[in-house]
Amino acid sequence: MLHEDKVIQGTNVFWGEGSGFGLPLLLELDPETKTRTRKSFTGRVVIGNRVHIGNNVTIVLGGYRTTKIGDDCWINHSANIGHDTVLGDRVVVGNGVILLGEVEVGEDTYIAAGTVVKPKVRIGERCMIGIGSIITEPVPDDALVYTKRDGVIRRNQFWEE
Ligand SMILES: CC(C)(COP(=O)(O)OP(=O)(O)OC[C@H]1O[C@@H](n2cnc3c(N)ncnc32)[C@H](O)[C@@H]1OP(=O)(O)O)[C@@H](O)C(=O)NCCC(=O)NCCS
Repeated sequence: MLHEDKVIQGTNVFWGEGSGFGLPLLLELDPETKTRTRKSFTGRVVIGNRVHIGNNVTIVLGGYRTTKIGDDCWINHSANIGHDTVLGDRVVVGNGVILLGEVEVGEDTYIAAGTVVKPKVRIGERCMIGIGSIITEPVPDDALVYTKRDGVIRRNQFWEE
């Protein structure tokens, strides 16, 4: 597996097919030329014990510090764990969830499928984040959160003549 030298992994970690590590994209602005250039990264990944990583999961290496997965976490298929993101113990990350950089998730929290979390947002402990949520603000401990939606917008007429 790529970047093994930057990874510290506990015992009994299961890796599904197609899963592995990604590189962080860190950009900085040159004040004179106003162009953005890629910064080098220094971080790494720490994965706890008894972690389950499904198929096609990407864990992005830490950019500045460390991307951390706590003990007994379950990361489901096609999830993306951003750079410098920290998951507490026993966190569940559902299918296709995207946690962008520097997100923090407290222990025993469940993030259901398809959720996207904005960079640097903290989600508390023992939370339930409903499927398909867009999380842009901090979530306190013990909260149930989902993004409210309207029901049917209108009849689908695209398939009609
Ligand atoms: C967040 C969640 C736990 C809420 O469950 P709940 O409290 O039983 O909610 P209900 O199904 O009774 O729905 C209550 C209302 O919230 C709405 N709602 C529930 N979850 C929603 C979501 N994720 N996004 C938008 N609206 C949602 C429902 O449409 C309903 O609206 P209404 O009152 O206008 O009819 C659940 O929707 C969810 O996302 N569960 C994920 C479970 C999961 O991932 N399981 C994986 C098993 S493999």
